[in-house]
Amino acid sequence: MSTLSTPHIKPDGAPIAESILLPGDPLRAKFIAETYFENPVCFNEVRNMLGFTGTYRGKQVSVMGTGMGIPSISLYSYELIHTFGVKQLIRVGSCGGMQEGIDLYDVVIGQAASTDSNYLSQFGAPGTYAPIGSYRLLERAVAHAREAEQTVHVGNVLSSDIFYNADESALARWTRMGILGVEMESAGLYANAAAAGVDALGIFTVSDDLVGGRHTTPEERQTAFTAMIEIALATVTE
Ligand code: HPA
Repeated sequence: MSTLSTPHIKPDGAPIAESILLPGDPLRAKFIAETYFENPVCFNEVRNMLGFTGTYRGKQVSVMGTGMGIPSISLYSYELIHTFGVKQLIRVGSCGGMQEGIDLYDVVIGQAASTDSNYLSQFGAPGTYAPIGSYRLLERAVAHAREAEQTVHVGNVLSSDIFYNADESALARWTRMGILGVEMESAGLYANAAAAGVDALGIFTVSDDLVGGRHTTPEERQTAFTAMIEIALATVTE
C-alpha cells in the first residue's frame, strides 16, 4: 500500500490513476465519480477537495476538484503530477463565451490558454511562452465530440486571474484577439504539464454568453455538462 502524501492530497493508501478529470467544484468530482465510475474510492478529503478513483469502461480513472483560479489548480496539478505520477489531466469546467456564434451550452476545447496571470514567469522562458493543450488529447476529444454530434469550438481561451475586472474594456480586447471563452485555470495547468512533459487539456461548457449577456442556471447546465464529461472520459480512457 502506497503511503505517498503531499500537503494538500492525503490518499492514505487509496490509488490515484494516471488519468484524471479535474472539475473546479469538489462536489462535481463526487457527482462524476458516483454517476460514471464503477467502484469509486475516495482518495482525498483535505480541505474538502474531494478526489475519487474508480473504473470507466474497464480502465482506471480518477477525478478531483481543483478549486478556482490558477494558484489553486496549479498546486493540485503539481502534486498530482510530481508525487502521484499522473500523466493525463483534463480540466472539465465552464467558461464565458466571448465570440458571436458561440452559444450557451456549446462545448469549447482550449487548444491554447492565454492569460493575464504572472504564473508562467517562474519558468523563465526568454520570451512569451504560449501555453497549449496536449495535441494527443485534443485530437481525441474533438473526435469524440463530433461522434456525439456535440457543437464544439476549438481555439484559444483566456485563463484570467480577474473575475470582477475594474478595466471594463479588457475582455473586449481579448475578444478582438479571437479568444473563444474566459475561464480561470487552464494556463496554469497547461504550463505545469508542459514543464513536466505530461498531457493536459481543458474542455468547457459555455455557461455565460458575455457578448449577448445571457446566463444559465446550474440546473440548466446539466445536459451540456454531461456531454462534456462523456467527451473527457472517452478521451482519457481511449
Ligand atoms: N469569467 C470567468 N470564468 C468563468 C466565467 C466568466 O464569466 N463564466 C464561467 N467561468
